[in-house]
Amino acid sequence: MQDLLNIKAVRDSFIESLNNAKTLQELDEIRVKFTGKKGDLTLLLRSLGKLPPEERKETGQELNKLRDEIEYSLTQAGKKIRDFENEKQEINERIDVTLPERGRLSGAFHPVLQTMHEIADIMQGLGYSVATGPEKEEDFYNFECLNVPSWHPARDMQDTFYFADGTLLRTHTSPVQVRAMLEYGAPLRIICPGKVYRRDNDVTHSPMFNQMEGLLVDKNVSFSIMKGTMTEMLNAFFGKSLKSRFRASYFPFTEPSMELDIECVECSGNDPHCRVCHGTGWLEVAGMGMVHPNVIRAGKIDPDKYNGFAFGIGLDRMAMLKYGIGDLRLLFDGNISYFLSGFDSKEGGKKC
Ligand code: PHE
Repeated sequence: MQDLLNIKAVRDSFIESLNNAKTLQELDEIRVKFTGKKGDLTLLLRSLGKLPPEERKETGQELNKLRDEIEYSLTQAGKKIRDFENEKQEINERIDVTLPERGRLSGAFHPVLQTMHEIADIMQGLGYSVATGPEKEEDFYNFECLNVPSWHPARDMQDTFYFADGTLLRTHTSPVQVRAMLEYGAPLRIICPGKVYRRDNDVTHSPMFNQMEGLLVDKNVSFSIMKGTMTEMLNAFFGKSLKSRFRASYFPFTEPSMELDIECVECSGNDPHCRVCHGTGWLEVAGMGMVHPNVIRAGKIDPDKYNGFAFGIGLDRMAMLKYGIGDLRLLFDGNISYFLSGFDSKEGGKKC
């Protein structure tokens, strides 16, 4: 009788432990506690021999029943825990194919760089090679050899950043003209894209901006070749045939000098309140002219045999016009959210 009570106590204790078990490891501990070498059930089974023979059979049967029950319950509980763990893992790893995509940020060239590449491609198609020059430039190349001696009032056209040693940050890409002539001689066709610097900083001017110089030196170069080249380049860049006009202007390094205006890409001259051309219908995009003989001479080329034309395009301006960017400063402030959002509709931007 005493043993049957013990059996009941072991069984109750087993059931309670089992109900509290949450992990496979806890189940293992229960298995050891009851059926291990020194387990509660094992001890009971061992003490069976000490019972009077008439009690042994019944108690033995009870103990065997309990052992079967413990083993069965442990197996079932193990299965349940494993199923639960599997389900939990499955839920965690489940892919919800109905979720909307997060969107991918892919890198892209800056609009000015894209513009630079596009125009360079067009010009390379016309037989021009890319030349480069230093941004920290000598006064000689930036001014002196471009027919702008130190006393020349035209120096006022370009407010310059000077270094203490007399060098300067180039104010235009034109210094590459003489550098290229000295390096390659005539005939010559080069473009030079790059950064230039002026002491200007307001809504429409930045102290650093981008230009592309073009220079062609050959025999019998005519003004009409220059005009045709510029028109060809602009039409290819904007992907349509735009009206253009050449306005007489002045640069010390070209004679005659012109400024090139193109038909407003936004309103084609039809909107008196156009935010881009301010109702004039025209946009100024480049300075140019026939290279001054003094400049050809500075490039150690004989101006009696060779002549040429040169142009300088504002690349930032071109990027703004092509991609509909309303404010010059957006190009330089490093905030890409404007470009990611497909450009501010208020500013009438187009995505590039
Ligand atoms: N260098 C001139 C400027 O920056 C542009 C230009 C280049 C004009 C070549 C004529 C010829 O304003």
